[in-house]
Amino acid sequence: MKNFSLTTVELSPLADGEILVRNHWMSVDPYMRGRMKQGDSYVPAFKIGEPLEGGCIGEVIESNNDRFAVGDQVLGNLGWREYWNSDGEGVQILDPELAPIQAYLGALGMTGMTAWVGLKRIAALQPGSTVFVSAASGAVGSMVCQIAKANGCKVIGSAGKDEKIQWLKEKAGVDAVINYKTTDDLSKELGKLAPDGIDVYFDNVGSVHLEAAIDHMKAFGCVVCCGMISTYNATEPASAPRNLFKVIGKRLRLQGFIVRDHTTDREEFLRDVSTLIRDDKVVWEDTITDGLENAPKAFIGLFEGDNLGKALVRISKEGQ
Ligand SMILES: NC(=O)c1ccc[n+]([C@@H]2O[C@H](COP(=O)([O-])OP(=O)(O)OC[C@H]3O[C@@H](n4cnc5c(N)ncnc54)[C@H](OP(=O)(O)O)[C@@H]3O)[C@@H](O)[C@H]2O)c1
Repeated sequence: MKNFSLTTVELSPLADGEILVRNHWMSVDPYMRGRMKQGDSYVPAFKIGEPLEGGCIGEVIESNNDRFAVGDQVLGNLGWREYWNSDGEGVQILDPELAPIQAYLGALGMTGMTAWVGLKRIAALQPGSTVFVSAASGAVGSMVCQIAKANGCKVIGSAGKDEKIQWLKEKAGVDAVINYKTTDDLSKELGKLAPDGIDVYFDNVGSVHLEAAIDHMKAFGCVVCCGMISTYNATEPASAPRNLFKVIGKRLRLQGFIVRDHTTDREEFLRDVSTLIRDDKVVWEDTITDGLENAPKAFIGLFEGDNLGKALVRISKEGQ
């Protein structure tokens, strides 16, 4: 927490073509951890002394731009602050009819789309497949589980708390769930639950989970490499997976992806997931932390398993 500071600054007066937005919600996401260290990455590191960035939803309170009206709810990338102004580039006006507005940071936003892209575009999911998902009750994982179920798959999830296991079984309709923190041997447990093997492993965690999945992948299966959260705070290289050689004999495909490379799929994703929501095939949870000053706590909580579903920070209660 000592690495964060809360600061008040004056915004510059609104120029021609600009909008002023008051943030109501912001997202905390594991990828932000990668921006807190120097090194090779697909996104540049945050700069010390400058505000952090990230997904946010707010309301236009002043507009000098014809595309936006006062009162519009918008999605932007200037979270971690209460107000921002912008020329509107990259800012999307949201439809508040379909779902509560904060869903555009979760099920209908970046994390929901990550789940959809990983299954549809990377794994080319087929009905009848057996899908294993790690961090299964999180923002991405919970959507992966339900999209896979809605596409006629058998789904096995892994999570680290009993309340998460219960939610996955009772609310998300997952077929079987492992509490990886209480099991002695994740690979053995997975083998029991998927005796015929796994077609698709959706990896959110890496290391021991990836090793267990490789042990039980079917020949020609696909590992969707979405994230490896177990390694993000590590100071030493991971000690697993130790069985990568099995990728050859099993002719596996391991494919990484970054959701923002798939912006052209956004309309199809929104159509698909909106239909699932209307048909009651997708539900979700938000774990809400109140107050911008508590955003660091919400962010750190991602690495301690504090969140069920999407971790959000409510910056202002007027957004509800
Ligand atoms: N490729 C992309 O474009 C893309 C986009 C978005 C997200 N991602 C990745 O997707 C993954 C999930 O992101 P999310 O936003 O949905 O986060 P999330 O799953 O909502 O939250 C993180 C969860 O990870 C689990 N976790 C934390 N440390 C762990 C560890 N050491 N071992 C096992 N599990 C651990 C915790 O759940 P438990 O209680 O179950 O441990 C925690 O609640 C992350 O790896 C993220 O980097 C990738």
